[in-house]
Amino acid sequence: MDANPIILAIPEINLNSGTGKIPVLGFGTASDPPVDSETTKRAVLEAIQVGYRHFDTASLYNSEKPLGEAVVEAVNRGLIKSREELFITSKLWCNDAHGQYVLPALMKTLKNLDTGYVDLYLIHWPVSAKPGKMEYPIKEDDFLPMDFATVWAAMEECQRTGLTKSIGVSNFSCRKLQEILDIAKIPPAVNQVEVNPCWQQKKLREFCKDRGILVVAYSTLGSVGTFYGTERVLESEVLKQIAQAKGKTVAQVCLRWAYEQGIGLLVKSFNKERMEQNADILGWSLSSEEVDKISKIPQGKVCLGLDYRSVRGPYKTIEELWDGEI
Ligand code: A2P
Repeated sequence: MDANPIILAIPEINLNSGTGKIPVLGFGTASDPPVDSETTKRAVLEAIQVGYRHFDTASLYNSEKPLGEAVVEAVNRGLIKSREELFITSKLWCNDAHGQYVLPALMKTLKNLDTGYVDLYLIHWPVSAKPGKMEYPIKEDDFLPMDFATVWAAMEECQRTGLTKSIGVSNFSCRKLQEILDIAKIPPAVNQVEVNPCWQQKKLREFCKDRGILVVAYSTLGSVGTFYGTERVLESEVLKQIAQAKGKTVAQVCLRWAYEQGIGLLVKSFNKERMEQNADILGWSLSSEEVDKISKIPQGKVCLGLDYRSVRGPYKTIEELWDGEI
């Protein structure tokens, strides 16, 4: 493996925490169906070689350990000088989303990653589950409402200790974000949510922009191949026409579109060729006519979060989970 990245400079965005810049393009490490650790480690090493510098993991994904091992190996092989060259995000799982368990959960994440800090630590979903063993899917009876005040205070403490440089949330609606903002001493730096041309999240993006919160997109390609994903994005006729006219792939058009919206974006591919293709979104642009066509694509949420509603939990319907933003 040589140490010269194929893509050289992915732009970075300042986070409102003032403690770091986030590379706009991030590499997703969640695999569905699951893969073994060696496969994840190899993919991360290839991604570092390609030039990705932002990696997204979560305690749920079983990718923290292989990501940490890949980083150590990347330093040993001279692909990067040190871990400081990377931006690593991880997430708090629902069973640990209780004031007293947040810091221990982050410590475990750091141990898995074999690092002294993460760059960004997110509340994975706006719901808690019975403390104890990590479970997914969460059993109907194990859901609990999240006490935003104590959980967010514990997240703030994580930032104060320096174990994470920034804190944020994931899968939060405008209303739930406002609840956090109302009690926060440190506002969330990021809300990581689904954004793609078929689910553009205009209202949520506007809300976040006005409050200095960066939206980071997941399912930018519609998470095709996963249990909740769809082909709707990569098979969109509008996107296919634009891609053909530009000599790009539909995936590149999706990623370039997200980039031009001024948000952060994640994409997962463990295939080297697609990894390179997905990173090749700089140095060209969409015309205003193309952006306009994309803005008219019929909208439909891909990641509905069906696993997070429960007749015995705080969100009995997906409308309640997303506060009608669906
Ligand atoms: P693979 O890892 O085999 O490349 P998302 O980032 O929206 O969750 O999408 C991830 C899914 O899309 C994965 O199944 C991934 O498969 C696939 N994928 C990633 N990049 C591309 C691409 N450029 N073209 C087609 N499929 C892609």
